[in-house]
Amino acid sequence: MRHASNLVRDPSRVQGGDLTDLPEGAITLDLSICSNRFGPPPEAIAALADLITRQPDSLTPPPYRAQTPYLEAFARRLHTDTRHMLAGCGVTEFLAALARLLTDRRVAVITPEYTGTLEYFAYADFLSADPGVQDTPEMRFQRTREAMMAYEYVVLSNPSNPLGHYIPRNDLLRVCTHSQHRGATLIVDEEYIAFQGNGRSLAGTDLSNLVVLQSTGKANGMPGTRAGMLWTRDTHLRGDVQRLLLPWLYLLDITAATAALQDNAWLPGTLAKIKSDAQRLQQLLQGRFGARVSPADIHYRFVHLDNPYPAHRHLLNYRINTRLFSGDEAGTVPGLRLAAPSTEEEFDQVQAALETLTAGDENADHHRHSCRALRGSPTQPM
Ligand SMILES: Cc1ncc(COP(=O)(O)O)c(C=O)c1O
Repeated sequence: MRHASNLVRDPSRVQGGDLTDLPEGAITLDLSICSNRFGPPPEAIAALADLITRQPDSLTPPPYRAQTPYLEAFARRLHTDTRHMLAGCGVTEFLAALARLLTDRRVAVITPEYTGTLEYFAYADFLSADPGVQDTPEMRFQRTREAMMAYEYVVLSNPSNPLGHYIPRNDLLRVCTHSQHRGATLIVDEEYIAFQGNGRSLAGTDLSNLVVLQSTGKANGMPGTRAGMLWTRDTHLRGDVQRLLLPWLYLLDITAATAALQDNAWLPGTLAKIKSDAQRLQQLLQGRFGARVSPADIHYRFVHLDNPYPAHRHLLNYRINTRLFSGDEAGTVPGLRLAAPSTEEEFDQVQAALETLTAGDENADHHRHSCRALRGSPTQPM
């Protein structure tokens, strides 16, 4: 069995939601995640229960047909059809396949970006804001526009992880239209598009130099399930990706994901609540960090901090986990990403931590590995 003391990593290397380095029970509010904290939807649970208790035989053969209802439900959600879609095991499977296929092509990633994307596309050019300049959606869009004039493939998440920046749909469509003649393709990871609002996806347009990736994990609060889709009119690329995918989907995952997509009642209600919670979090953070908070419309917010370790450790002492980015790795910026709390108690917990976070804490040159602070039980309030 692995011993906890061997697991202590620099927090910048720990993905959101991974509490394995921290003592059991040390965290009561995990804001490091980036999925819907109210999930999974009841319909998804019911579908799984039904499958296991009433149709156990369906577990016997490989689920060859499972992708059809999934893609049909996804297409209905996106007001398109299934002709240009593939089903896969989350956006991750598509990112990995695309990164493998495009190794010899000129690829740019608009950074900062999801760490998985940075790893898969490590061979690409990372296009970031100028050093010391706090990025904005407009600057991100400008880099995307320039990249589409200079590269064959341009990868970005929209809304972005970790900054939460959203580039308006029509701006990206215009860029794709303008660069069609030179054969540049935009790969848009829409992992968080549902949090931004309805009707924002680029899937279903008539452009052939566009690849759109989405999953059913984050918005439905079940990132433990592996299910997602790729949309593109580029027949060759779609075929090439398909050949790299696993031969079939995971039945339990796709069953829950299809039921979530068919449930039109649950998602809008939870997303509305999350968005207003996130707005409240933004105000709370701005009260403490001012303009260093990146304004956004989705479910998390990013705070730019030159040295995020002391603030991260301070919040850990209040039993709150956040996602730390050191800014040391290519394509990242230093700071903390926080998902929105959802109850009064959780907001009080965050407020108490922020009120006691001193400027000294923020600027001190603490040891960059902060987990050691939490060996044993927390010593601070809460
Ligand atoms: C922008 C972005 N894309 C893709 C992924 C991976 O998503 P999936 O769970 O759909 O494989 C993540 C996970 O955090 C992400 O933040």
